[in-house]
Amino acid sequence: MARIALVTGGSRGIGASISKTLQAQGYAVAATYAGNDDAAAKFTEETGIKTYKWNVGDYESSQAGIAQVEADLGPIDVVVANAGITRDAPFHKMTPEQWQQVIDTNLTGVFNTVHPIWPGMRERGFGRVIVISSINGQKGQFGQVNYAATKAGDLGIVKSLAQEGAAKGITANAICPGYIATEMVMAVPEKVREKIIAGIPAGRLGEPEEIARCVAFLASDDASFINGSTISANGAQFVV
Ligand SMILES: NC(=O)c1ccc[n+]([C@@H]2O[C@H](COP(=O)([O-])OP(=O)(O)OC[C@H]3O[C@@H](n4cnc5c(N)ncnc54)[C@H](OP(=O)(O)O)[C@@H]3O)[C@@H](O)[C@H]2O)c1
Repeated sequence: MARIALVTGGSRGIGASISKTLQAQGYAVAATYAGNDDAAAKFTEETGIKTYKWNVGDYESSQAGIAQVEADLGPIDVVVANAGITRDAPFHKMTPEQWQQVIDTNLTGVFNTVHPIWPGMRERGFGRVIVISSINGQKGQFGQVNYAATKAGDLGIVKSLAQEGAAKGITANAICPGYIATEMVMAVPEKVREKIIAGIPAGRLGEPEEIARCVAFLASDDASFINGSTISANGAQFVV
């Protein structure tokens, strides 16, 4: 029987690549999104992967959405908490709303996504929790006090979950991507992009598939003893 994988924010960008890679490896995949219906419909048309719409920042919606996915596909074996946003501003200009929106999606969203799935994983004695953090959670970033705080917090979540889940056959790990050639990064002016690339020893942006392949490895049985760790995938831009 195919394992079941849930990818939040799995209809666009890095998440879409993760969904497709897991599907190609034989998983039954459900992808979630927040509001971009057109992108989600196009994604389903191209891949056959069903999409579900809910806000990961809301616990009740997450609980109900996950219950629907499990009713449709079966118990979730692999959860990839990928949905994330930025609301950048230098700290002296950052509003409480910008702070809260990012906390709700990137940090509370991980709690809301994993918490309803966790008891089933414990009961069945198997689970893979994979959280997409960021290089900027490891090193901080000008204009991203909110974002860096959530992405560093995500690392605390997986390190703790790893210790709680290990005896129940559950692993929890994080991936910290560097700059990846998604729509978001490709939309910045070419001059700015050139500056970013100049700071990456690999001399290029990462590809979404390079993150997706890390996810596929962490989800696999080959990664069964890797628990509580962080994979940096950043072309040596920041070496921990
Ligand atoms: N791109 C990079 O260079 C980079 C680098 C490091 C880390 N990351 C991290 O990687 C992850 C994916 O980034 P990306 O660049 O692929 O993002 P993206 O292209 O902007 O896609 C984000 C996805 O998350 C969904 N989403 C956003 N807020 C949500 C919410 N409240 N509830 C449910 N879904 C929500 C979006 O849904 P809609 O389509 O409905 O908007 C979309 O499917 C994020 O966690 C990001 O922080 C990215």
